[in-house]
Amino acid sequence: MNIDQIKKEFPIFDEKIQNNDLVYLDSANSSQKPKIVVDRINEFYTKQFSNVGRSVHYLAVAATNLYENTRSSVQKYINAKDTNEIVFTKGATEALNLVANTLGQSYLQEGDEVLITELEHHSNYVPWHFLRKSKNIKINFAEINEEGEITLEEIESKITPKTKLISITHLSNVTGAILPVKEITQLAHSKGIIVVVDGCQGAPHLKLDMQDLDCDFYAISCHKMYGPTGLGVLYGKKKWLEELPPYQGGGGMINEVKKDRISYGELPNKYEAGTMATAQVIAFDQSIKFLESIGIENVMKHEADLVEYGQELLQKNNSVKLIGNPKHKGGVLSFTIEGVHPHDIATILDEDGVAIRAGHHCCQILHDKLNIPASARASVGIYNTKEDLDQLNESINNCKKIFNL
Ligand SMILES: Cc1ncc(COP(=O)(O)O)c(C=O)c1O
Repeated sequence: MNIDQIKKEFPIFDEKIQNNDLVYLDSANSSQKPKIVVDRINEFYTKQFSNVGRSVHYLAVAATNLYENTRSSVQKYINAKDTNEIVFTKGATEALNLVANTLGQSYLQEGDEVLITELEHHSNYVPWHFLRKSKNIKINFAEINEEGEITLEEIESKITPKTKLISITHLSNVTGAILPVKEITQLAHSKGIIVVVDGCQGAPHLKLDMQDLDCDFYAISCHKMYGPTGLGVLYGKKKWLEELPPYQGGGGMINEVKKDRISYGELPNKYEAGTMATAQVIAFDQSIKFLESIGIENVMKHEADLVEYGQELLQKNNSVKLIGNPKHKGGVLSFTIEGVHPHDIATILDEDGVAIRAGHHCCQILHDKLNIPASARASVGIYNTKEDLDQLNESINNCKKIFNL
């Protein structure tokens, strides 16, 4: 695989960022966009634009076909059984809110327990907290081990007869731990428990097979998958999406509207109220094509090599403390440097053109557990090279010099 060639497909790398070549190590936050995705948005708006699913004129029908075409591509890409199991949302956050809200309306009862983990992003905690407030459900937390992992045994130990739902990340956006989602799902289903997966960090970096994972819901963030912002995907098993109530009301999601009654549309329209992110959906087809052209196995191999390399570099760099050391790890290197605030690390690295993230990464529960207010995080994508990680290490050394470490 020729990474230099792949990198050339991303126009941002032709830019000088504050007079530096860009070393982009913030893909867990959001990935850069290949030209084919950007061009597709432009082409759709300039040559093909219409709203979808409404008018019968030529442009409207053509746009609707393109929109539905992406749904089919997503279905195939994640090996879902049915295109009706693919719902477009405005992001993974909305997908997770949709699941929590609709299960809260119709399935979860007062006193039921939802099991999440200490690794969860706020998007996979706050929606359940809303139900704790409104429905008096209880939230339990599976705890991380020393390596920053969540084991199957830990999940099993936190299941009680009242556990109705387990909601877990596929890949931690802080420790990089890849959770044994398939095994957790098997265990949960053997006890009649629903499984929701926050797949934000899983979808861009791991091979996805919904029929094999067998989870009930899987949330995807398209802007982390070399796709446009303002778009997410919710995979939901058909039986659930048919059974649950709608999430938002408005145009497009109804069947019949009378003064005294309303009936709702069929799947997937039932969950796609209002004008959707049409251009983004249509362009997302190109993101899938881009990933398919490389092959997810190649993506996984390249990123695993990068992480191993980066981990070794940072482990050797004294005063850098890596967060977590999971056996199965994705492309995330979170770290602290004693005596330097992560925001200072990120600001100093930025002067060398090295873009990383600093903060709690929307994981305050995890940072509380680790007893730190924040951390610095370098995360990789398909366009990164070992030289990028060398530059990261060199810039960390510059930062240490400034702080006399
Ligand atoms: C693990 C995880 N969950 C959820 C989200 C939220 O995704 P979105 O931006 O698509 O709403 C993110 C994004 O940072 C994430 O990393």
